[in-house]
Amino acid sequence: MASFQKIGVFDSGLGGLTVLNAICAQNRGLSIVYFGDTARVPYGSRTPETIERYAEQDVRFLLSKGVEAIIVACGTVSAIALPKLHQSFDLPIIGVIEPACAAAVSVTKTKHICVIGTQATVNSNAYSSCLNRIAPDCRVSGIACPLFVPLIENGFREDDPITQLTVERYLAQIRNTDIDTLILGCTHYPFFTNAIRAELPGIHLIDIGVALSQAIKQMMPKSGETRENDVEYCFSDKETSFQRFDTNHLKSLPKGEIHVINIERF
Ligand code: DGL
Repeated sequence: MASFQKIGVFDSGLGGLTVLNAICAQNRGLSIVYFGDTARVPYGSRTPETIERYAEQDVRFLLSKGVEAIIVACGTVSAIALPKLHQSFDLPIIGVIEPACAAAVSVTKTKHICVIGTQATVNSNAYSSCLNRIAPDCRVSGIACPLFVPLIENGFREDDPITQLTVERYLAQIRNTDIDTLILGCTHYPFFTNAIRAELPGIHLIDIGVALSQAIKQMMPKSGETRENDVEYCFSDKETSFQRFDTNHLKSLPKGEIHVINIERF
């Protein structure tokens, strides 16, 4: 990452903003193009072939903006399409799975880790394969939470009773187990951090954006850069949902121009 001034960050929708927020909180002087594929979200209920095709279009769009490296701020694309993206494109493309797994392994005491994510992510076993590789003594459980992304994209906040009921419905099954660490394996889920914490008090929550941005910071030289990051926000559908989004979780995001683009052209 060291010499990259302009990076692209993309997600199926608005969840990648939690990753962007974490990157901006940790780094200075970056030019960033964010792309949220709001016209085609969610990706997590689609086939691997469709997710790969969408991800390639997303990367081609970011390349058209002159980025020098790409952060895949989407757990689903990182789980399904990263090998294909590495095959198809000749620039650094960084996913969220490895840093999240490393962070989980560093805090678990019981060595029982749970990953929550989209159906595609949980089916892919990408997190459990990575965890088994770096910590073979850990046990891994997985729970798909397919209603979380539509709730978040539709502006449901974490104190909404519907959100709280949904969180309980998915996560009550791991209360009072020996799981002590929960990877929020989808970049949308940090918007529900407080609701999840209320359901599972005392558990270590791994926010994959925070884990990734710490890894990026370690790769960057200490430059003394003080210039604010500048961000251009691009979406494939009207940006209205971005504007009514729960910005309490996005305090480090700089303001920037917002554009709507036609992703099918790429
Ligand atoms: N933020 C995406 C992820 O991290 C959401 C996936 C979806 O669109 O279903 O998995």
